[in-house]
Amino acid sequence: MAEYSIAIIPGDGIGREVTPSAFAIARKAAEAAGVSLRSTSYDWGTDYYRQHGRMMPADALETLRPCQAILLGAVGHPEVPDNLTLNGLLLPIRRVFDQFANLRPAVLFRGVESPLKKFGPGDIDMIVVRENTEGEYAQVGGFVHHEHPNEVAVQTSVFTRHGTERVIRYAFELARRRGKKRRLASITKSNAQGFSMVLWDLIFEQVAAEYPDIETESLLVDAAAMNFVRRPHTFDVVVASNLFGDILSDLSAIIAGSIGLAASANIDPTRRFPSMFEPVHGSAPDIAGKGIANPLAAIFSAAMMLDHLGLGEAARRIEGAVQQVLAQGRARTPDLGGSSSTGEVVQAVSDLL
Ligand code: NAD
Ligand code: IPM
Ligand code: MN
Repeated sequence: MAEYSIAIIPGDGIGREVTPSAFAIARKAAEAAGVSLRSTSYDWGTDYYRQHGRMMPADALETLRPCQAILLGAVGHPEVPDNLTLNGLLLPIRRVFDQFANLRPAVLFRGVESPLKKFGPGDIDMIVVRENTEGEYAQVGGFVHHEHPNEVAVQTSVFTRHGTERVIRYAFELARRRGKKRRLASITKSNAQGFSMVLWDLIFEQVAAEYPDIETESLLVDAAAMNFVRRPHTFDVVVASNLFGDILSDLSAIIAGSIGLAASANIDPTRRFPSMFEPVHGSAPDIAGKGIANPLAAIFSAAMMLDHLGLGEAARRIEGAVQQVLAQGRARTPDLGGSSSTGEVVQAVSDLL
């Protein structure tokens, strides 16, 4: 049997409650397709930080490097500053492994209610492609006169032609490959951000000329936020910078029913490095430990992992099982208006596999 090695990082909060079961589902589907998934689970995160003074060991990236994929839960704890925890674990993996395309699909499934009353199953089917290695998250800057009354903070965005062009090109290719509405919307704020976003718009126009079969639109991020609510059915692929993609993908998640359903894939399309799969949601401290977190975002993310590993059919089987659970309403966590536990939803999906 072919074998892939998967690194699992459950992390913090509900990440610990949903990640092991999402992996178990993926392993079951992969095995049925004749591939065995060998896993190593790493206890990195905030508890590890409290014991060792760092979120992961100094050689963690070397440890992860040989694996075929990384499955991550969530990172963040109310008692430790987020900039320490996230910049100590999640963000370095995305950057160092050059996972420049962050894919965040949002689909309104049968059996799920959108808070937008005009839209029903199938009406919303979009995917946000978020630049994932630079832009507003470049971590360039610093403090001057730190902790004095006159302190100053500088945080600089970095937009490179290389980084912008490759993610835009990826989004065009995806619009073609999906073969759905063959539409791509590019989101910027070039009316106010007169350098970085102007460069982005220019590159978008240049690359668009190579894809005459894809219908394009360029939107300012404020108008895009409104249009996600007003006309979500018109969006297919959406490409945005790191920060705008982050914000818009929480919005696309909720209009498709719940952030508890929102999957994501941090892809290095060149396959030089392992890609990482994780839900869009965070560690959800408000519900952590209660056993009611929706595991479906993590399960969908694990399906995206199988897809990336070339196990498309196994991925479709998982997605099919989840869709059936949703459509039949046989198990629903509270975020979807139900009263099932995390475990009951996992069991329902597993039974259908
Ligand atoms: P969050 O996504 O953790 O939670 C937002 C809201 O959505 C909460 O009310 C939560 O209960 C609900 N929710 C999220 N996932 C859910 C699920 N699977 N099922 C049911 N309800 C769910 O965002 P937040 O509260 O802003 O952040 C909490 C912590 O997580 C912070 O430390 C933040 O930095 C971190 N965070 C990490 C990631 C990540 O690791 N990828 C992503 C986002 C936030
Ligand atoms: C996400 C999260 C992260 C991000 C945070 C936790 C740094 O919100 O993956 O959407 O902004 O990328
Ligand atoms: Mn986010």
